Amino acid sequence: MPRKPPIRIKSPSDVELLRRSCRLAAETLLMVGDHLRIGMTTLEIDELVHKYTIEHGALPATLGYHGFPKSVCTSINEVVCHGIPSRRRLKEGDIINVDVTCKLDGFHGDTSATFFVGAVSPEARKLVEVTRRCLEIGIEQVRPGGRIGDIGHAIERHATQAGCSVVRDFVGHGVGRDFHEGPQVPHFGDTDRGPRMVPGMTFTIEPMINLGGWELEILKDGWTAVTIDRMLSAQFEHTVVVTGTGCEVLTERSRPLRHSEVFD
Ligand code: MF3
Ligand code: CO
Ligand code: CO
Repeated sequence: MPRKPPIRIKSPSDVELLRRSCRLAAETLLMVGDHLRIGMTTLEIDELVHKYTIEHGALPATLGYHGFPKSVCTSINEVVCHGIPSRRRLKEGDIINVDVTCKLDGFHGDTSATFFVGAVSPEARKLVEVTRRCLEIGIEQVRPGGRIGDIGHAIERHATQAGCSVVRDFVGHGVGRDFHEGPQVPHFGDTDRGPRMVPGMTFTIEPMINLGGWELEILKDGWTAVTIDRMLSAQFEHTVVVTGTGCEVLTERSRPLRHSEVFD
């Protein structure tokens, strides 16, 4: 994407269309949680997401996006993001981020969560809880008149206080008719920087938080981003709209996510 993609402020009718796409993305993630099992392959997750999306009149936005080959990203353990579904099987103790993007009636809804596969190590559990909290803290900064930099500043402070690091190579993004629009939303940096938030601005917040260092590399498949030190990385993502008074989380879930927000 260009370094400074345009920021498009949405009308109330655009926001309503985006809300519907985001709701479908949220429901898709809930469905994934309901089906998650030790021993399943990430290709099976891809098939579930593909089928569910199509059945609900939408398209999986990642399929063919700049050549991405699958309908969802599945990022296990040291994979930071953009993991490609494969025949790899989930094993007990893994953590896996599933990142769903629907395109419904021309608008993109983008959300992800990290799931626990069976019982996980205390470190993995800590990382996932820190990352979940980073997203919440980021969302708390969203208000008209604030600046995009406030979001990353708050996230970075929480992550570093917990002894974790924040990925710098990938950022949140404006979202709407385009999958990736402006503004870019870093999950680190100084407060009082970046574009001013105004009502109708829509973007994702999607912190990728690492137990070790923030540095990553891209595998030879051209997509899979992994931590250089091969330590664990987790991510949560919501799509939000700036409202007159604060923020609406468009991808908010209607119930807790199994294997992530509740433990079963
Ligand atoms: N859903 C990812 C994001 O949050 C982007 C995936 S693009 C893909 O921005 F090409 F890797 F699928
Ligand atoms: Co995104
Ligand atoms: Co996403």
